[in-house]
Amino acid sequence: MNLFNVYPLFNINPVKAQGSFLWDDKGEKYLDFYGGHAVISIGHNHPYYQNKLKDQLEKISFYSNSVQNELQTELAEKLGKISGYEDYNLFLCNSGAEANENALKLASFHNGKNKVLYFSGSFHGRTSAAVSVTDNPKIVAPVNFSERFIKSEWNNIQQLEEIFETLGSEISSVIIEGIQGVGGIMIPTAEFLSKIKELCEKYDTALILDEVQSGYGRSGYFFAHQEFGIEPDMITIAKGMGNGFPIGGVLIHPKFQASNGLLGTTFGGNHLACAAAIAVLDVMKEENLTENAQKMGDYIEDEIKDFPHIKTIRRKGLMIGIELDQDCAEVRKNLLYNHHIFTGNSNDKNVLRILPALNIGKEETDLFIGALKTVLESI
Ligand SMILES: Cc1ncc(COP(=O)(O)O)c(C=O)c1O
Repeated sequence: MNLFNVYPLFNINPVKAQGSFLWDDKGEKYLDFYGGHAVISIGHNHPYYQNKLKDQLEKISFYSNSVQNELQTELAEKLGKISGYEDYNLFLCNSGAEANENALKLASFHNGKNKVLYFSGSFHGRTSAAVSVTDNPKIVAPVNFSERFIKSEWNNIQQLEEIFETLGSEISSVIIEGIQGVGGIMIPTAEFLSKIKELCEKYDTALILDEVQSGYGRSGYFFAHQEFGIEPDMITIAKGMGNGFPIGGVLIHPKFQASNGLLGTTFGGNHLACAAAIAVLDVMKEENLTENAQKMGDYIEDEIKDFPHIKTIRRKGLMIGIELDQDCAEVRKNLLYNHHIFTGNSNDKNVLRILPALNIGKEETDLFIGALKTVLESI
């Protein structure tokens, strides 16, 4: 059997990883400045994380959501404390798309409405409702398409108001990324976010903040939206939450009523996944990684801002979009093959997306800065 061929692959086969580095099957070393799409939050194979998972494997790795699981309670308590959302409730699942799918569904159960507003440039995942609120027609199959999903322009308050004026009473939820990642590191304005919040309150519409990529300390705040002082009805999380172990979740405002069977999953919140997620939170707290993201992000921006071919840098903490005056594909290839550094791209072909682990130090960062300078000066 062959693999279903949906991924364009670099011809590199990583077999070992530690901290911000990977090694391939030929023993070549690579610097990871992308974290496998923002997943590696506390660095590869952090010893505390490894030990937590090994210990858990020795005990129990899985049982279904039909029994008590104290690890879920510990995770919810720790997440509530570190994020400042102690009065919210947590639903655990397995991925970012699944978190959004459940949030959209819960909003609709709650207010009985069936339209969803989303924004240009958005990416919310590839499952049914999540892909319907993703602004990429290439990945929305006919079975996912519906006029119930309404697109509004990013950061355009006037259009938002107009849509709410005509359809507000039918809009169940608004879904928005804390910072758009796949869209090219697009940051919402404070006015835009507070207008969304105001309209959601006025029309009994649930506000869903997708923090799958921008969350978990990456922006220099625990959640990117916290910079703007708004409180969403639901917050969705995944990616860095498990540092590579698949886990996702929805933080749910207490006004949403839970009832038996309303949401559910076989694997969500299993023992191993919770152990991984608890380890991530423990390390983030112990090593002040949200602060480190802010500090190292500031340092990178300061060092690279005058490099040639950089048009703008859009950034919060270690969520960095470097907009070049040309397609970034060659720059990425050059960084990877000549300097052994992984970086990312985005739907905006000129934007190089940089998402390193939150615990990077100056030494690794200087390797990236030096290589980027060499590459940009050579074109
Ligand atoms: C903002 C955002 N939401 C949701 C998702 C989907 O997450 P997953 O791939 O875990 O389903 C992603 C993935 O890139 C994302 O960036």
